Amino acid sequence: MLSVMLDGCIKVPVKMKINIINSLVLILLFSSHVFSQKVSLIPLPNKISSAPKKFTISSATKILANGDMAIQAAELFNSWLKQTNGYALPIVSTVLRKDRYIAFSMINDTSEKYMLKVKRRFVLLEGGAAGLIRGTSTLLQLAFQSLETKNKIPCQTIYDQPKFGYRGVHLDVSRHFLSKEFVKRYIDLLALYKMNTFHWHLTDDQGWRIQIIKYPRLTDVGSWRSGSMIGPYRNQQFDSIPYGGFYTQNDIREVVYYASQRQITIIPEIEMPGHSLAALAAYPEYSCLGTVKEVGRAWGGFDDVFCVNDSTFSFLEDVLSEVIELFPSKYIHIGGDECPKLRWSQCPKCLNTRFEKNLNNEDELQSYFIQRIEKFLNSKDRQIIGWDEILEGGLAPNATVMSWRGIDGGKTAARSGHNAIMSPGTHCYFDHYQGERATEPLAFGGYTTLEKVYSYRPIPDSLTKDEQKFILGAQANLWTEYMYDEKQVEYMLFPRLCALSEVLWTDTVWHNEKSFYKRVLQNQHLLDSFHVNYSNTWHLPSLKIGGGGKVPSLLLSLSSKVPQSIQTAWEDDNGVSEFTAYRNPKTVSSTGKLLVRSNYNQHETIVKYPFEFSKVTGAKINLITPGNKSYANLPITLVDGITGAFPWTGKHWIGWIGKSPEVQIDFSSIQKVDSIVVVYLHDPVSWIHAPASISYGETELKFESQKATTTEAINRISIPVNMEMKNIHLRFNSIGLNPEGTAGAGQNGWLFVSEILVY
Ligand code: ACM
Ligand code: ZN
Repeated sequence: MLSVMLDGCIKVPVKMKINIINSLVLILLFSSHVFSQKVSLIPLPNKISSAPKKFTISSATKILANGDMAIQAAELFNSWLKQTNGYALPIVSTVLRKDRYIAFSMINDTSEKYMLKVKRRFVLLEGGAAGLIRGTSTLLQLAFQSLETKNKIPCQTIYDQPKFGYRGVHLDVSRHFLSKEFVKRYIDLLALYKMNTFHWHLTDDQGWRIQIIKYPRLTDVGSWRSGSMIGPYRNQQFDSIPYGGFYTQNDIREVVYYASQRQITIIPEIEMPGHSLAALAAYPEYSCLGTVKEVGRAWGGFDDVFCVNDSTFSFLEDVLSEVIELFPSKYIHIGGDECPKLRWSQCPKCLNTRFEKNLNNEDELQSYFIQRIEKFLNSKDRQIIGWDEILEGGLAPNATVMSWRGIDGGKTAARSGHNAIMSPGTHCYFDHYQGERATEPLAFGGYTTLEKVYSYRPIPDSLTKDEQKFILGAQANLWTEYMYDEKQVEYMLFPRLCALSEVLWTDTVWHNEKSFYKRVLQNQHLLDSFHVNYSNTWHLPSLKIGGGGKVPSLLLSLSSKVPQSIQTAWEDDNGVSEFTAYRNPKTVSSTGKLLVRSNYNQHETIVKYPFEFSKVTGAKINLITPGNKSYANLPITLVDGITGAFPWTGKHWIGWIGKSPEVQIDFSSIQKVDSIVVVYLHDPVSWIHAPASISYGETELKFESQKATTTEAINRISIPVNMEMKNIHLRFNSIGLNPEGTAGAGQNGWLFVSEILVY
C-alpha cells in the first residue's frame, strides 16, 4: 500500500474574511446557481432556483407519504430528524388544506434523480426509489443550513442527479474489527452525503470476518489473532492481547437490509489469492505448504497464499456461494492485490496447474486463478471487481478494475473496454495523513489533504470520449491498520468524504474551493448533531516556503482556509520571541523554529516548524529528474531547511521509483564546500530503500560516496568534499529492484530524499 503525494498549493489568502465583497463576487459569478443564496449543501445540487420566503419545520409538520418506497424515504428522514431535532414527524396518507407538510412522492424512475420543491406551505420531494433517498439527504441538509436558521428552509426548486454512477467508500474490518452497529452508522453517514456503494473488506491476513456455515473454522479460528502491532510497522512491536470478531450471517443480512433502505449497495470483498492468511490458518490444506498456523499479527503481506489447485477452487466456490446468497449486489470484489508468488514458484501442485493449463509464468497463474473465479461468479449471474493487479497476466473477460496504484490500471482497463473504478492512493486513500505529521495521530504514510481530495477528477484527460465512459466513478478507501476504533475511522473519513462526495456528485463547473470550505464549516454543525468525530486539522494555517532571494534565506508565507487570526513567533538559541499577528510573509536566514499559533472556533493550536540552515538553504535547485507524480513536490523541498518526518507524509519528501535521480544546485558564486549532507528515507517494507551511493561533482559527476547503508528510517549521510564549487551536481544511485527477501522483491524500488545540506 504505497502511494500518495503532497499538494502543497496554498490558494486562500491569510486574511481571508468571508465578507460582503466576496459574497458579491460570488453572486455575480454564479447568479444562475446556488451561490445566489446561502446554501450549505454538500454535495452541491446541479440545478437550483430560489424564491423568497421559507418553509418552517416544527413538530406540527406532517409527512405525506403513500407507498412503500415513499414511506421508506420518509422514515429515513425521520430517523435523521430525530438526531438533529430530537423529534420525528407523523407520517400520514392524507393532509388537510390547513396542514403544513412535506410530501414524499414516488415516481417511476430507476435513476438517482430527484426534484425538490420548497414552497411556503409545503415541500414536495419527487423521485424514484433511489432519487427519494438522495433527495432526503438534501432535505435534511437544507433544514440544517446553520444553527441560526435551523428548520427554516428557503423556498426553492432543485433538480438534481449525480455526475458519476459509482460513488463508493470502503472499510477494512479485518485489521480492526468494527461492530455491526458502527457499520450501520457508517452506511448512514455515507447516505447523508449521497454515496451509493459500500465496499466491505471482510477478509484479509489479519482476520476473517464473515460467518461461512460450511467452514466454521473460518470464524472459529480465522477471526482471531493472538496479538496486534503497536506503533508504526517498522518498530515491529506487538501486544499479546487476543483480538477478534466477526459478523454472523444474520448480522450481514441486517446490514444489507439497512443499506438497501438507504439505497446503498454493499459490495463484499473476499480476498484471494493473496491476503488470505486468516483463511489459511483455519484451513491450511488450501495453502501450498499446508503449514500455516497463525492468523497474521503484523500488518503488510505474507508469502502464504491460496494454492492454485482444484481443491482450493472447490473451497472458494463454496465460500462464494454463501456470500452471494447474503449479498444481492451485481458485483463481488475478489481482491487480487499484492499476491506474492514465491510459494507458487516452488509448489508441485501449482507447477502442475501451470503445466496442465499451459501457463508460462506466475502472472499467468494469477490470471488463471482470477478468470476461473470469474467464470464461477458469472455462472451465478455476478460480475467481479478486482484491484488493478488483476490486469497482470491477462484480464478476466468481464472484470471491472479498481485502480489503486495510481490511475494507469483504470486507464488500461478503459482502453480495453473494461469498466474501471478509480481509487488512486494519491487522492482516495483516507488512511493517509490529512495534515502535517506533527498535528496528526499515527497513520499510514502519505498525504491526502482535504483540498487534494476536492481537486480530484476521476476521468483521466488522456482517455478518448468513448474510453471515458468506462470510468464508472471513484471510491475512498479506509484501511484500518492505524484506525484503532470507531472514533478514529470517523476522524479519517470526515471531512474528506464531503470532498469526494461533491467530486462525484456535482458537475465540475459548480466546484468552487472557497464555497466548499465554507459549506464544510456549516456542515460541521450537522455532523455535530450526529456526534461525528471529524478532523479539524484542515483549519490549521498552511505554510508555503520559497527562496528568500539572498542565499541562504527563506520566504515563509501562511494562509488559512477559514477566517481566523494567526500569530507567529521565532525560536532559536537566543530564546523565543513574542507572538505577533501574522500579516506578511517572513524572511528567515538562520537555524530556528517558526511557531504558528492559530485559533479557530476556540481550538488554539501551535505548530512548530524547525528549520535547519546550511549554505544552500533556499538556493536555486534544478530537479533534473522530476519526482514521481505521487511525490512530485516543488524542487525547493530539498533545500527548504525542513526534514520530513516518519511515517512520511508526502509533504516534505520527494520520491522517485525505479530511477537514480539527479539534481543540481546553483551557488551563483564560488563557494568552499567542506561536506554535503543528504537526508533520505529507508523503509524497505514500503519498498523505500536508501540510495546505494551518491555520485557528486561540480558539473560532471566525478566522485562517489560510500554506500549509504542503514537500519534507521530517516538517515543522514555526510559526504566529505573539501573543494571550491560554483554548482553541486548530485545523483542518488538507486539500489534498483527491491532485493530478494524484502517487500515487493523484483519490482522497482522507491528512493526518497527530504533535504540536502551543504557546509
Ligand atoms: C490495496 O491497497 N492493497 C488495494
Ligand atoms: Zn501451490
